[in-house]
Amino acid sequence: MNEYPDTWKRTGLCAGYGLKDAGAQVTLMGWVHRRRDLGSLLFVWLRDRSGIIQVVFDQSRDAALFAQAESLRGEFVIAVRGQVAARSAENVNAELATGAVEVIARELVTLNESETPPFTIGDEKVAEALRLRYRYLDLRRPELQSLIAMKHAVTRAVREFLDGEGFLDIETPILTRRTPEGARDYLVPSRVHPGSFYALPQSPQLFKQLLMVAGFDRYYQIAKCFRDEDLRADRQPEFTQIDMELSFVGEDDVMALNESLLRHVFRAVLGREISERFPRLTYEQAMARYGSDKPDTRFGLELIDMSKAAAGCGFRVFADTIEKGGAVCALTVPGALASFPRRQIDELGEIVRTYGAHGLATLIVEEGGVRSPIAKFLTADETARIVAACRASAGDTVFIVADERRVAQTALGQLRLELGRRLNLIDPGRLDFLWVTHFPMFEYSAEEGRYVAMHHPFTAPLDEDMPLLASEPGRVRAKAYDIVLNGSEIGGGSIRIHRRDVQQRVFETLGIGEREAMERFGFLLTAFRYGAPPHGGLAYGLDRLVMLMSGRDSIRDAIAFPKVQSASCLMTDAPGPVDPRQLAELSIAAVAQGDAKHDE
Ligand code: AMO
Ligand code: AMP
Repeated sequence: MNEYPDTWKRTGLCAGYGLKDAGAQVTLMGWVHRRRDLGSLLFVWLRDRSGIIQVVFDQSRDAALFAQAESLRGEFVIAVRGQVAARSAENVNAELATGAVEVIARELVTLNESETPPFTIGDEKVAEALRLRYRYLDLRRPELQSLIAMKHAVTRAVREFLDGEGFLDIETPILTRRTPEGARDYLVPSRVHPGSFYALPQSPQLFKQLLMVAGFDRYYQIAKCFRDEDLRADRQPEFTQIDMELSFVGEDDVMALNESLLRHVFRAVLGREISERFPRLTYEQAMARYGSDKPDTRFGLELIDMSKAAAGCGFRVFADTIEKGGAVCALTVPGALASFPRRQIDELGEIVRTYGAHGLATLIVEEGGVRSPIAKFLTADETARIVAACRASAGDTVFIVADERRVAQTALGQLRLELGRRLNLIDPGRLDFLWVTHFPMFEYSAEEGRYVAMHHPFTAPLDEDMPLLASEPGRVRAKAYDIVLNGSEIGGGSIRIHRRDVQQRVFETLGIGEREAMERFGFLLTAFRYGAPPHGGLAYGLDRLVMLMSGRDSIRDAIAFPKVQSASCLMTDAPGPVDPRQLAELSIAAVAQGDAKHDE
């Protein structure tokens, strides 16, 4: 093993070389990805963050160098000097981007050795838990390297754009008070104030509003956020937002600016052109047509409300549901499905039940009638009415859910997504952006027995819905908007309340008394006494955006050091127990020490 040869300078990265460089003398440094020994020829695949290139050691050319190369093993760190040479046609390797060339080695320095790694770098079939334990090895994978690089490219493009638009990048505190984004907080005990805790921010929401009160006008931040919530494939306990806030704007201003921002980012990072203006759906329309507040509009298969046609029909479940104020909604799948095996249709019933629906009725439409478990309850007229309402014809399959309107819509919305996947209706190459607007301000929480804010309590109600605040909170809509890409919510925001009296009324609706409001957000309410400008903003989930831009389906791939589902880090073993002395210093007594953190 040698020390670093100071006089050697890298001429470039592996993947940068191709036929155009034939004959060039190069100096490359990186890791031994793989070696193949053909007796008197030794091929080493050299890998750096750009990719892989083949290096050839030829015994007949230089026996000493060859002997030196024979000691190389996987993941050794080496420096190589040599000459780029075109491969003969039969030796071109289509597997490698650099496969038309190879480097004929002239000098080799082994910079470091490596133990045999616990898995082959690049093998995605290895259990994820093992790869996460050795994340730094998995990160050597060119795909992950390029994802992390893409994240950098995205933040860079965001900064470029927002800088150009006069935004200031301003930091906000990490050790702070509770933020009202609806998840559980991560708490940090205070040593100096025994029994008191900081909360890590779920978002910079309150501070960015205060920055508007302070007159900064246009703020942004690439901000770390922390939420102790149940994790899914697109959620992490700590994640990053592209967060922004603007003064003297309405909804259209924020939306137009963000359309331009995304256009800039997609052009700069992916070289793709996206539309000037994104379509908009109200929450009500999105739910009615797609059964989702983040619809995937890359395919049709829209929901149909067939309550009118089903009212008073002989199938009691339908008739009763409508009488009780619910809805009967349907999804008509043209052709194809009739040939689905029974078992698969039963599985679809499971999906709607997972989303709270009580049942799924299936109708297979045939010439002159239907085949269905509910056919016997319906007269020929009723059947014809239902089939017509569902715009179904012979060969089509109709799925029907009768339930509370939102339950029926949501269940069929999920069924729609599943059918979209199974029937290959989704064009993966499409980028469908969409604004969803007019969200309900409040949703009723049966658990808490009161209304809770759907977005957060600082979101402004629509002007025309203000009179409903006290009487019918469930019908108040908000100046809130989400931005959806291919069925994922990539960002959301709202115009905020900037007047104290309105804020007061919203708190009343939420059952937050004056004392509680002062206790929790007193600093913000006080600030609003001193001339708060009209303002609004938006935040994107950066990790989720990168995941979607790269076509991956796990948010972990877009985070260098992610956590697993139980919110632990398999590499550092965080969270971990702490020294009792440290706890004593913080005036903390731990009552239980679970050990459930290693399940993923
Ligand atoms: P919201 O809570 O909708 O809004 O969050 C904004 C965006 O952040 C992303 N996101 C997440 N990404 C990964 N893991 C998570 N656990 C997670 N939670 C949220 C989503 C989401 O669209 N302060 C407001 C924004 C505003 O009103 O300006 C906020 O935080 O992509
Ligand atoms: P049952 O009489 O409960 O066996 O139901 C007869 C058929 O109606 C079955 O195919 C059920 O899946 C379906 N069904 C039951 N409840 C509902 C509902 N709420 N919405 C739609 N279909 C239902």
